[in-house]
Amino acid sequence: MSHDDFPTDHPAVVTCGLPYANGDLHVGHLRTYVAGDALSRGLRRIGQQTAFVCGSDMHGTPVAVNAAEEGVEPREFALDYHDTYAETFPQFNVEFDNYGHTDDETNTELTQEFVRSWVDEGHVHEKEIEVAWDTEEDQPLPDRFVEGTCPYCGEQARGDECDEGCQRHLEPGDIEDPVSTITGNPAEYRTREHKFLRLADFQEYLQGFLDRIEGTDNAKNQPREWVEGELQDLCITRDMDWGIDYPAGGDEGEDTAEDLVLYVWVDAPIEYVASTKQYSERVGADEYDWEQVWKIDGETEHGTEWDDDWTDESGDVVHVIGRDIIQHHAVFWPAMLRGAGYNEPRSILATGFVGIDGKALSTSRNRAVWADEYLDAGFHPDLFRYYIATGAGLETDVDFSWDRFAERVNGELVGNVGNFINRALLFAARNYDGTPDAAVSEDVRDRIEETLESFETAVRDYDVRTLAELATGLSDYGNEYIQRTEPWHLLDEDPSEAAQVIRDCVQLAKAVAVVMQPVLPGKAERLWGQLGEAGSVADVSLDTALEAPPETFDEPDQLFEQVEDDHIAELNEELQDRVEEASDDGDDADEADVDLEPLETDRIGFEDFEGVDMRVGEIVTAESVEDADKLLKLEVDIGHEVRQVVAGLAELHDVDELPGTRVILLANMEQATIFGVESNGMVLAAGDEADLLTTHEDAPLGTRVQ
Ligand code: 2FM
Ligand code: ZN
Repeated sequence: MSHDDFPTDHPAVVTCGLPYANGDLHVGHLRTYVAGDALSRGLRRIGQQTAFVCGSDMHGTPVAVNAAEEGVEPREFALDYHDTYAETFPQFNVEFDNYGHTDDETNTELTQEFVRSWVDEGHVHEKEIEVAWDTEEDQPLPDRFVEGTCPYCGEQARGDECDEGCQRHLEPGDIEDPVSTITGNPAEYRTREHKFLRLADFQEYLQGFLDRIEGTDNAKNQPREWVEGELQDLCITRDMDWGIDYPAGGDEGEDTAEDLVLYVWVDAPIEYVASTKQYSERVGADEYDWEQVWKIDGETEHGTEWDDDWTDESGDVVHVIGRDIIQHHAVFWPAMLRGAGYNEPRSILATGFVGIDGKALSTSRNRAVWADEYLDAGFHPDLFRYYIATGAGLETDVDFSWDRFAERVNGELVGNVGNFINRALLFAARNYDGTPDAAVSEDVRDRIEETLESFETAVRDYDVRTLAELATGLSDYGNEYIQRTEPWHLLDEDPSEAAQVIRDCVQLAKAVAVVMQPVLPGKAERLWGQLGEAGSVADVSLDTALEAPPETFDEPDQLFEQVEDDHIAELNEELQDRVEEASDDGDDADEADVDLEPLETDRIGFEDFEGVDMRVGEIVTAESVEDADKLLKLEVDIGHEVRQVVAGLAELHDVDELPGTRVILLANMEQATIFGVESNGMVLAAGDEADLLTTHEDAPLGTRVQ
């Protein structure tokens, strides 16, 4: 059985992955929200009752770790970001019907209800597991408090996700060579009791679910492998203070649960439901009924006999997410919903990543184009929306480039759409005071009808890119029409033909406003005003594109402004500096991530350290060593004397640059003869690139390092 085509006769909800309330938003985040926003507007336009909801993800270690770094309580820290996000989204014309957060009452209650249902239905059990522990701080290390090696792909990973490798979810205890992110010490594993959702109970159901789910190919196909294999239990609790409490009474006779909070990935997706509920409560269930969307047949039903009982009677839930969280949405979440008697998602759209120069954006390394930075540059939000929605399909990874942004805005929006609208409406206003008195020609009507059909298909196929390109397609047609017919000549030569052309072009302009609205809502509204239309273009149906425009309207001003080269050059320079800085830091950090040797566990006494004689020195001469490509013979002045030292720097440093470099020399290193050259000390350096240790002030040569 498959889903009914949109528009359906039940309400839909479009949600976007909740942003962790732990840092600034960048263009990578915005890609998902723009897609979700455009899609909800598109669905409404084709007559689908749609709510668009989201909220901030307040709990878990992503927030706790960053809050601790700032020395702020997690709640205060997360609420600050929540407020910022709630202000930023509308500045990009991302207009949620409800923007809640996971720490509010609605979500807390609903989350605890979900967990109680799982417990009642026998899907939760308790077991002892090994959790990472920081012995110095004497505390458990859930999720982002621990890093190590992914057991599946061998990449550096966080405690609960292989964020730099295979993107898999990791369970507590999975990570190898765990290191505490609090102290940098190797972590120890200790036994603790935790609660688990038995995903295997849902295996058969999930296989059926994946057969009917709609959305991007990555979201439909990747999870197959996970639900075909053995489904591991999902640990739903954590040893932390920050989060929603495991519900009391959820598990009779259990007292261990008292100091446990729910794993952030339990309460985060439930916010989709909570946020819809808040919206429904605000507008009234008569206008939008959250239960009709989320509950099976409008009421909560539990059960495990679900082989063939799926029906298309509940609402349509459409999730728009980043491609790194497919497993959470296509495996864990439907099981969580099913276990509590809630309706499953109809579709999952997983967007590709946005990068810069082929590298992923990184908040911590400041390798990003920030949402605020875009707004501060003074560009209209719709330009970004258009740029990010076109150019590549939703699931493809893309690079953000200011040059490409300018090229696309100037070529496609200013040069094509803006140019067409301006020529058509200016000519119409000047010569006819508005829409000429004529019927729309058949060709133009057909062309508009074709575009409206493509609009519906694009929305049904969740094809945001095609949706975004419809306005440029129609404008292309209009520009070509004007070029071909040259109405300025027709005014004298054939006035009725001139009126016909302009009548057609005004209709095309109106259709452009209607079809561009999901992706360029601000500009569409402005064009609507230029056409002298009443009300909002957001409220009209698709067919309005074929209704006659007002008889009169004024001369328009330019719909789009040219992006100037100088401005782009400035932005490029800033971005380039930042990217270079980030990749310098990044190289170091990457190396540290990959090659960081475990710290020595054996401590030494001060006497041992005193036995190490390190001195400030300066390289006087440097020359190569015969037959040894890697070695240099150095003369190092250490105040008391000049030492001859052999060092492996030849391939890592420019030999001519070394004289004059201040270094630290291990002066009481045993004498050695290397490739026939006597060496009387060791120049200290860090890492594979032999980053030379030095002093930063002017300690005299020979000063002892202590
Ligand atoms: O990965 C993330 O950024 C999460 N904050 C997404 C949560 S989406 C959902 F499930 F709520
Ligand atoms: Zn991995």
